[in-house]
Amino acid sequence: MSTLFHSRFLVTTVTACCRRTLSTTTTKNAKVCVLGAAGGIGQPLSLLLKNSPLVSHLALYDIAHTPGVAADLSHLETRAKVTGHMGPSELEEAVTGADVVLIPAGVPRKPGMTRDDLFNTNASIVGNLADACAQFCPKAMLAIVTNPVNSTVPIASEIYKKRGVYDPKRIFGVSTLDVVRANTFIAEARGLDVSKVSVPVIGGHSGVTIIPLISQCTPPVSFPLEERVRLSVRIQNAGTEVVEAKAGAGSATLSMAYAGARFAFSLLEALSGVEGIVECAYVKSDETEAKYFSTPILLGVNGVEKNLGIGKLIEYEVELIKAALPELKTNIQKVFPVLVQFKRSCIMDYKLKLSQLKNCTEHKTSQNKLMIC
Ligand SMILES: NC(=O)c1ccc[n+]([C@@H]2O[C@H](COP(=O)([O-])OP(=O)(O)OC[C@H]3O[C@@H](n4cnc5c(N)ncnc54)[C@H](O)[C@@H]3O)[C@@H](O)[C@H]2O)c1
Repeated sequence: MSTLFHSRFLVTTVTACCRRTLSTTTTKNAKVCVLGAAGGIGQPLSLLLKNSPLVSHLALYDIAHTPGVAADLSHLETRAKVTGHMGPSELEEAVTGADVVLIPAGVPRKPGMTRDDLFNTNASIVGNLADACAQFCPKAMLAIVTNPVNSTVPIASEIYKKRGVYDPKRIFGVSTLDVVRANTFIAEARGLDVSKVSVPVIGGHSGVTIIPLISQCTPPVSFPLEERVRLSVRIQNAGTEVVEAKAGAGSATLSMAYAGARFAFSLLEALSGVEGIVECAYVKSDETEAKYFSTPILLGVNGVEKNLGIGKLIEYEVELIKAALPELKTNIQKVFPVLVQFKRSCIMDYKLKLSQLKNCTEHKTSQNKLMIC
């Protein structure tokens, strides 16, 4: 269990996946940067980060509204210095010196859309932001929230490779919300104290690629197969529950902010030397035939300390993995044609890109092609 939010008036504890020992809260200086900080996720996520003693500098970047969000948050009587950065010309300053960068920038789902439907727009946004991180804070832990996470993580990874700074231990897809939801739903179903429930969720972060391992729940729980299936399907579709309930006003924001903050605090604690911190995250992986796969990860000062793997499965979970792999592999593979175009534009010097951006905005030349004009 990690102590996350401390102030004179508020002490809240949030539990982390597979980890229930109280860790000491550190006060090490850490710069955390949020890219997409003015959005539905970005704002509450920034609020939670500003409320943490783990953060000494919170840099907020967006293409709009960051001065207001930064001014607002800067009045909180908490430790972190807040700076606001708006537009591509201020991106370098935002990310330089960051220890952790969180990316919730991009378009959210509307009813009827899958996460994969966001690919064309969000791939370009994440690609450009990752390119800046690769140049100006290549050692930072990069935590990608933007959907489709199954594809945006490979995109960022390939861009880091192109820049010659790729370290797979430092790039994470944030799938924490799936774990948070699994913990909540299983605790409700069994009348358990949710703060003591921990369900690993592996695979990817969309539909059938989300694989809850209820058989590995702590404490152990048992369900008839029909109920296990119902719970697993609910965890897989929980994001859609929120999209439909919001009826066109976006996707999960508050629960995602909570999950993103939980993941960021786990990274920060690990960076400061706290041992035994485990979170499920979507990372470069050799666990299956998919090149990226979420599993419980032991975090350390260099990011992924150890991939704890899939563990022992029951037959139903083996079937879930079999069902997930084709879609996950397709989601990963589809980034490569896009990257060919992106790599061409990446060869340009960042400063040159910026001067070009002054005259024209980022656009897609055609479906699945990324260019900076
Ligand atoms: N990983 C998860 O579990 C999870 C959960 C929910 C939502 N999401 C994803 O998070 C993303 C954001 O969702 P939201 O609800 O906050 O959307 P939102 O539209 O409310 O906010 C997105 C923000 O990104 C900003 N933005 C757009 N282009 C940008 C760029 N090039 N640089 C910097 N900022 C830019 C926008 O100005 C806006 O402030 C979506 O892709 C959504 O699907 C992920």
